[in-house]
Amino acid sequence: MSSSPFDPKKPGGGDATGMSRGLVNYGDAGFSLFLRKAFIKGAGLTDHALDRPVIGIADTGSGYNPCHGNMPQLVEAVQRGVMLAGGLPVKFPTISIGESFAQPTSMYLRNLMSMDTEEMLRAQPMDAVVLIGGCDKTVPAQLMGAASAGLPAIQLITGSMLTGSHRGETVGACTDCRRFWGKYRADEIDATEIADVNNQLVASVGTCSVMGTASTMACIAEALGMTVPGGAAPPAVTSARMRVAEETGTVAVQMAKARLTIDKVLTARAFENAMRVLLAIGGSTNGIVHLTAIAGRMGFEIDLKALDRMGRETPVLVDLKPSGQHYMEHFHAAGGMTTLLRELKPLLHLDALTVTGRTLGEELERAAPPFSQDVIRSRDNPIYPQGGIAVLEGNLAPGGAIIKQSAADPKLMEHEGRAVVFEGLADLAARIDSDDLDVNADDILVLKNIGPKGAPGMPEAGYIPLPRKLARQGVKDMVRISDGRMSGTAFGTIVLHVTPESAIGGPLGYVRTGDRIRLSVSQREISLLVSAEELARRAKESPVTVPSADRGYRKLFLDTVTQADQGVDFDFLRPPQTVDRVPKA
Ligand code: FES
Repeated sequence: MSSSPFDPKKPGGGDATGMSRGLVNYGDAGFSLFLRKAFIKGAGLTDHALDRPVIGIADTGSGYNPCHGNMPQLVEAVQRGVMLAGGLPVKFPTISIGESFAQPTSMYLRNLMSMDTEEMLRAQPMDAVVLIGGCDKTVPAQLMGAASAGLPAIQLITGSMLTGSHRGETVGACTDCRRFWGKYRADEIDATEIADVNNQLVASVGTCSVMGTASTMACIAEALGMTVPGGAAPPAVTSARMRVAEETGTVAVQMAKARLTIDKVLTARAFENAMRVLLAIGGSTNGIVHLTAIAGRMGFEIDLKALDRMGRETPVLVDLKPSGQHYMEHFHAAGGMTTLLRELKPLLHLDALTVTGRTLGEELERAAPPFSQDVIRSRDNPIYPQGGIAVLEGNLAPGGAIIKQSAADPKLMEHEGRAVVFEGLADLAARIDSDDLDVNADDILVLKNIGPKGAPGMPEAGYIPLPRKLARQGVKDMVRISDGRMSGTAFGTIVLHVTPESAIGGPLGYVRTGDRIRLSVSQREISLLVSAEELARRAKESPVTVPSADRGYRKLFLDTVTQADQGVDFDFLRPPQTVDRVPKA
């Protein structure tokens, strides 16, 4: 055996470590390592440093992403944790997606970020990776990419923003954004007040302060075992968040040494735990799409009917907006996920392994003792008796649809009404505020062409604004149906993710104004009261042209994106075979 420091332990082999991993192809592995070390020494590193386990840190800081505005401090804390544990931290950039800055919609770019993450993990030498994300699409993208790359990986959440105060009332993004905007549209508040509110909604860097998609994905990441215990809840600007970051760096080194690869954590049982948590937190409907996509990367198929069955025995326990009253900082003060998971214990797989190398059950045994608080309820005193999300079926959605029942108006959950149809976003924008719009409060608003291929990217436009003339009359909610998504911070009686989408010939595309539609959440039904013969006639009369593009990412997207029930992932990013269904039948 040679004693040269430039002999990779196994050129191209699977058990090379540190800087010897994944050498560049020059046809001479020793030279490749020699060259690599020369270049990194150019940054001032010594051989001593280069002998350590290498921990990659995915830095997603961006001026276009205030939800990641604490990235420099987080990276510094992770680096400290890595070095304290004897590793070598190496940060690297990937795409970052800020929800309100990414046009046409952040979801259009989620898969691109997942591919960027996956390929950078594959391309660059690292023994484990710390993924730092927070804003809605970033954590799913990172988990999808890491799941496909297969390395030891740990998720660090950026943390939620602080709440603000408007004229004595606590406010936070973004449930209150929508509430105040609704008041402004209805002429209940004036231009001066809406400008004042605009200054208060986002009181610091960090992710949205309610149980929106970002908070949902943070809780899901912890439920999956992908964060350190207590990693979901601390707000972005707190010392607790920085301690989580340091601990994350330390655990990453342990994972590298133990070769605790992501497949040992992201098991079918972990996904089932995450489904329970999604239901119990009254989580964002987007959580289903993302969880389906992450599971899909591991070869697991999420069973939506089973999710619905789980929902009937999993009450909503977390009293956070939009389903409840509080904000993420209160969830953190109440003990965060530890308190919730302890309450859900009988419903969880406690033997699921976490990034610490201990099981979920072991971590709960080690956690601080419970204390009295009023944000996370007990199962016998829930916020809502069933899970937050119900799965609907019927001739309008043969592949399923969902409704966030915990944020809906109970009076509208059994409702039959006349469809008022908008053909797409432009049609909606042109007519929704018209005084001439023929619409009544008990009608059902239908919006087409906002599915994965339709818009494209399945934008969060499913929260169809109430027609201005009805808003002025004091109408607060109507049944709304689309093939799009809605923000996790939104509320209302809103049917989403109708599958298949209208743009590829789903029945939603053939609904006409005046048709009758029946929604029965108790029966899990969404039906278009039009005969199959009539629907077939309409389909023949107006055949769809599936959206396409000539080049670039848009072509890749439109050619390969899957429907909501497949997580809106690209078909070629999923493994060819399904390993299992979650939960098992
Ligand atoms: Fe980034 Fe809400 S906009 S988390």
